[in-house]
Amino acid sequence: MSTTLMPEQKITVPTPVSAQVEAPARIPEGAPRPVRPAGPPALLLEHVSKTFVIGRKKKPVAAISDVSMRVERAEIYGVLGANGSGKSTLIRLVSTLLTLDTGRAEVFGHDVERDEMAVKRLINRVSVDAAFFKKLSPYENLAFAARLYGLHAGDARREAVRILARLGISEKRMGSPIEQMSRGMQQKVAIARALLTSPTLLLLDEPTTGLDPRSKLEVQAFVEDLRATHDATILLTTHDMAEADRLCDRIAILDGGRLVAEDTPDGLKARVARETDLAPTLDNVFMTYTGRSLDEDVEAEGPEDDE
Ligand SMILES: Nc1ncnc2c1ncn2[C@@H]1O[C@H](COP(=O)(O)OP(=O)(O)O)[C@@H](O)[C@H]1O
Ligand SMILES: [Mg+2]
Repeated sequence: MSTTLMPEQKITVPTPVSAQVEAPARIPEGAPRPVRPAGPPALLLEHVSKTFVIGRKKKPVAAISDVSMRVERAEIYGVLGANGSGKSTLIRLVSTLLTLDTGRAEVFGHDVERDEMAVKRLINRVSVDAAFFKKLSPYENLAFAARLYGLHAGDARREAVRILARLGISEKRMGSPIEQMSRGMQQKVAIARALLTSPTLLLLDEPTTGLDPRSKLEVQAFVEDLRATHDATILLTTHDMAEADRLCDRIAILDGGRLVAEDTPDGLKARVARETDLAPTLDNVFMTYTGRSLDEDVEAEGPEDDE
């Protein structure tokens, strides 16, 4: 049965959806992507640290220690690390859910502490685990997010329908709670909220962890598509080497809260091949810089998510 809303073959660049969103100028449609885009970087971290102290008896945990990085607009930047290495803490710091102990963080030139509202409008942190998200339908989720980003109700509704149609979600299914959809589709709806603003810094915290192999590939393809067709910069954490290799322009390796290596996937592999007698694979890169394999957990159990 056909509906009026058919998935398009290729996601096309949408017309700018909101004049209200404070945003640097868009890259003109059809223009080649500049290698080093003008304007501020999508993300700039300078000597950022975050320590958790739980109770007086326990030792403080340095979740992020003196991390600096610069992510250019339109990059897919991967943060690779074992459980407990500080990946989620890093994402939460950028998304203003946590405050920095020391250092400086800027999103498109806006300081995360002084200019929190501007930063909130430019970032999209994806968490499929949020209960609120799952109870709402895809349509409600997108319309709600669109209102948060300052779109008028009518525009918000139109945008929600248009974006969901592009994901291949029929009008009929747009109204059912998200918890009834497949995990891969849930993840895509979560990410789709990023299509409401432009430019955007998408913060994807292990977007494919726990997905079956097929959904995983689907979500990865969707992330690649997003970058190709939308003015999106993507900061992605993962502990999947193949995913980092496939998706990321550059990779940072976190170990015990410290950034121990950063380069393109090929650059990292070449360096390891040059400096050791190991084969040029990301597994060997990880082993070389952290002294362990990615599957070895640093700690038995992480803290509960904050949502
Ligand atoms: N809210 C918190 N309170 C106390 N400790 C935390 C909190 N969040 C994270 N940690 C600790 O900080 C370290 C890094 O955690 P996290 O950023 O969740 O790592 P990852 O996402 O790489 O698994 C871990 O030792 C973790 O136990
Ligand atoms: Mg985590």
